[in-house]
Amino acid sequence: MKKLLDLISNEMKDAFEAAGYDRELGKVSVSNRPDLCEFQCNGAMAGAKQYKKAPIMIANDVAAKLADSKVFDKVDAVAPGFLNLVIKNEFIGDYVKEMKNSSKFGLEEAKEPASIVIDYGGPNVAKPLHIGHLRSAIIGESLKRIVRFMGHNVTGDVHLGDWGLQMGLIIAELELRNPELPYFDDNFTGEYPTEAPFTISELEEIYPFASGKSKEDEAFKAKALEATKQLQSGKRGYRAIWKHIMEVSVTDLKRNYEKLGVSFDLWYGESDADPYIPQMVEDMKRDGYAYMSEGALVVDVKEETDKKEMPPCMILKSDGAALYETTDLATIKQRVEDFNPSSILYVADKRQELHFEQVFRCARKTKLIRDDADLRFIGFGTMNGKNGKPFKTRDGGVMRLENLIKEVEDEMLKKIMDNREIDEDSARQIAQTVALAALKYGDLSNQASKDYIFDIDRFTSFEGDTGPYILYTIVRIKSILAKYKENAGDIESALDAISSPVNESEKQLMMVLAKFNASIENAYEELAPHKICAYIYEIANAFNHFYHETKILSEEDEAKKKSWISLLALTRDVLETAIDLLGFSAPERM
Ligand code: ARG
Repeated sequence: MKKLLDLISNEMKDAFEAAGYDRELGKVSVSNRPDLCEFQCNGAMAGAKQYKKAPIMIANDVAAKLADSKVFDKVDAVAPGFLNLVIKNEFIGDYVKEMKNSSKFGLEEAKEPASIVIDYGGPNVAKPLHIGHLRSAIIGESLKRIVRFMGHNVTGDVHLGDWGLQMGLIIAELELRNPELPYFDDNFTGEYPTEAPFTISELEEIYPFASGKSKEDEAFKAKALEATKQLQSGKRGYRAIWKHIMEVSVTDLKRNYEKLGVSFDLWYGESDADPYIPQMVEDMKRDGYAYMSEGALVVDVKEETDKKEMPPCMILKSDGAALYETTDLATIKQRVEDFNPSSILYVADKRQELHFEQVFRCARKTKLIRDDADLRFIGFGTMNGKNGKPFKTRDGGVMRLENLIKEVEDEMLKKIMDNREIDEDSARQIAQTVALAALKYGDLSNQASKDYIFDIDRFTSFEGDTGPYILYTIVRIKSILAKYKENAGDIESALDAISSPVNESEKQLMMVLAKFNASIENAYEELAPHKICAYIYEIANAFNHFYHETKILSEEDEAKKKSWISLLALTRDVLETAIDLLGFSAPERM
């Protein structure tokens, strides 16, 4: 479906043309004086010079051509030359009706689906998920859903951190603790055990311990570096122990992401890029891009126009070990072979910007990916506590994601129990659904690149620009629809009964709903889920306003009532579709 604003603009452009003016002057925008009109056109002002005429004369000419318009109810030419516009109730009623009967509410999908990879989540194996990874998961999941909804072929890849020093640290520490294990016996040629020699909690204890130790103990650090290198070069026992770490850790990660409503098409990691490294390095050397500098292999990525410092991209360390850059480059090579993507989006902490800039430049320069491909870094800000500093636990430690979710759930449960009489089991279930919305909406409603304050009281409030408020609105609609059905209302026939609005708040609600295609497309183009949040907040407000002004169920005019029921169903469907794009859902009641 054409966008509402385009249809309105077209009508205006036709009028400019019919009055003898350039049709491009007829661009319409949303009114910045909603007290006077709904839309406005400033084309007469813009055309004054070109036609050597007072703007008001042009505006009057155009207005005269719109006297019988099917779109505009009112076209006021006002000094010095504005066109103030109000649209016809039938026009918006018809638009919304068509929208209701169109697939995806009139959103036009991409004509040529592109192949797009989204790299998000990025957890590090054997380290518990902490809130730093929360934002990547929440934002990435929403972007994946938005891009897919637009009709593109999207592959979401978790890109595990499973190949760096943290693996060497764990292996080195395990070897010190359990030297008798066959993994550490160089002469062992048999089959390694199938069971991992540790549990997830043990693993989670080992990593921070080893990491702390490496900062104080040079010899241990050297051991860990050596273990990393040996793992990467294929030492049999280390590979086997690494596999155990992966199994134990990935099982736990999957469980956590599932709780968050986050899912990945690919569970690849840095290690999967490893086989691509040797050839990639060979090619970079052969083509003269990579050279030795102070023992390391590097590629220059500086450009003349650079204002900030741009160090060379390191490909191999002096000991031959791969780096974070190396795995990211090899992963591009792998993704090109697998999907030939037209774009790869990376959702990671904005402090990694330099890393990605180097990687992207190096990939382009060394022709790892086709020239027209878009490599895009979507850097997000930090989630801070109320004190404006990075969010911590009460005792100052790093907050585990699981505990954070639990905290929000408990708070939500309290609020739900306070609100009404409900048994604790159902309340708990509802609290889980609402807590996820509170958490995700609290995050997504901010522009991703900005830092934001995690404010549990505000996020879990049923009022204001929050997830629970949106869900509350949806539940309110569901309950009206259920009551209508209970009172033997014929919901099936009502569903299609939408007609022209009969009051102002109904018209306003329809106008907001009608922006669905434009809003989603805009969120897609700017890769900005916060645009969807702003849109549904606007819907929820328009709906609640309409609801307070309209006695829906006690209306005696059946036709009117049915039209409203139909509008309610549409509002519910649009909201539920939008929150699905954000990655959460609404309960039946709350
Ligand atoms: N594992 C990384 C971290 O925790 C994030 C990975 C981001 N993605 C990437 N392709 N480098 O910082």
